[in-house]
Amino acid sequence: MKYFNWAILATLVMACASKKEQVADPRYSEQYRPQIHFSPAKNWTNDPNGLVYHEGEYHLFFQYNPYGDTWGHMSWGHAVSKDLMHWEELPLAIEEYLDAATGDSTMIFSGTVVIDKENTAGFGTNAMIAIYTSHVHKNNEAVVQHQSLAYSTDKGRTWKHYEKNPILDIQRKDFRDPKVFWLESQQKWVMALVVPDLYKVQFYSSTNLKEWKLMSEFGNAGDRQRIWECPDLYELPIENDPEKTKWVLSLSGSHPQGKDFVGMQYFIGTFDGNTFKADDDSTRYLDFGKDFYAGIAFNNLSKKIMLGWVNNWTYGNQIPTSPWRGAFSIPRELSLKERAGQFELRQRPIDVSSLRESELKSFNDINNTIEIELQIDSAAHSGIKVTDNTGKQLIVGVNNGRVYIDRSQSQGTVFQPQFASIESAPLQSGKTKLKIFVDHSIIEVFVNDGEVAMCEQFYLPNQMYSITAFGNASIKNAWALKSIWR
Ligand code: FRU
Repeated sequence: MKYFNWAILATLVMACASKKEQVADPRYSEQYRPQIHFSPAKNWTNDPNGLVYHEGEYHLFFQYNPYGDTWGHMSWGHAVSKDLMHWEELPLAIEEYLDAATGDSTMIFSGTVVIDKENTAGFGTNAMIAIYTSHVHKNNEAVVQHQSLAYSTDKGRTWKHYEKNPILDIQRKDFRDPKVFWLESQQKWVMALVVPDLYKVQFYSSTNLKEWKLMSEFGNAGDRQRIWECPDLYELPIENDPEKTKWVLSLSGSHPQGKDFVGMQYFIGTFDGNTFKADDDSTRYLDFGKDFYAGIAFNNLSKKIMLGWVNNWTYGNQIPTSPWRGAFSIPRELSLKERAGQFELRQRPIDVSSLRESELKSFNDINNTIEIELQIDSAAHSGIKVTDNTGKQLIVGVNNGRVYIDRSQSQGTVFQPQFASIESAPLQSGKTKLKIFVDHSIIEVFVNDGEVAMCEQFYLPNQMYSITAFGNASIKNAWALKSIWR
């Protein structure tokens, strides 16, 4: 989000907070409601926060407005899952608060959760510790962003703020989105966070999660068309060289199509516990769709599994869903592959085959969520069209050495002119295998076993649709998927 927009947004939100209370459908069967992607029952959500695995549960905290369906009153919502597919939404985890003495309000911006296995912070062995950005504001003006700590000793169900907050303050209005992890080899905590308007990631270390020391900074590289947000730093295996690992720094900023949209990029390099050094300073985008932002990986898991927010700040507050606004991607596992001396990110959706209900034989009158495996054996223009009963269309295909999603004709009423668009990404070979999930208003495409990922929204006005292959595309497999809500 643009850093100078907080005040306007806050005003907008106050107007919306007085709106009539929205009622969610307990069956999650509203028009456009994704059936295999998590979305909160009602109200606004943006970034995933505090992703962590703990005692048999995956925790998804998320930026949440408890009072309305546009951005504001930012607090942490909470959902848990045992399999990363079926989610149970729990009561609000950490709520915005007012300081009665100063009149300042604090919103709970994005952050992280770690499991304090050794009780380094003194809140209990295995306490869940949240470190989040406290966004302090007064009379619709941002005052400061600093980092604060809250802890839970009941599996994230209730939270207490640390009485000596903030734990990290450099007196800046833009300083946010801490990601913290335990660096086993050096027995210390590491925090990555951004100075958004300076396109900088800072790295701090701590032994007790309360006192932090600046170690180094990374910046001056990659795409700097838009402010940087939500960094994450992790070590990934190299698939075709199992002895080796590399470090990846991913962050949110501009989109491959430029600064009118948000997107994510990543750097590959080394991290010695103090300094991240990128192998080069070139730009690598993480997802080529328009709707994958603020992605971070789970803590306390051996695999690196990332979730992103399926939306874009450019039109995020206007998407035509109700009574909720915002959803999260299918969790994707990350790894690296070496090709011609270069390392490349691989992203694969987690295995959702247990959701397969039936094999699709006919491709007309579909109203389920579907998974399709598509094969394209030549470079000729080929793909599939998803056409609804009103004739509106969403197209996925390959053409001129690129894979693309065309959603320019995929909406009924135009809710925002910049939504209609075509996205594309370069392909490495003429033969292409696509794994495609079509889920009511979200499409995710994974190309050639994770070489390219594209996540997008679409809003076909009628929920009944047909699928037709064109060119040299053939549908190898297709399944109707069960809803995660029933
Ligand atoms: C990214 C972001 C973060 C911030 C949060 C506020 O989408 O702007 O930088 O912490 O959203 O909701």
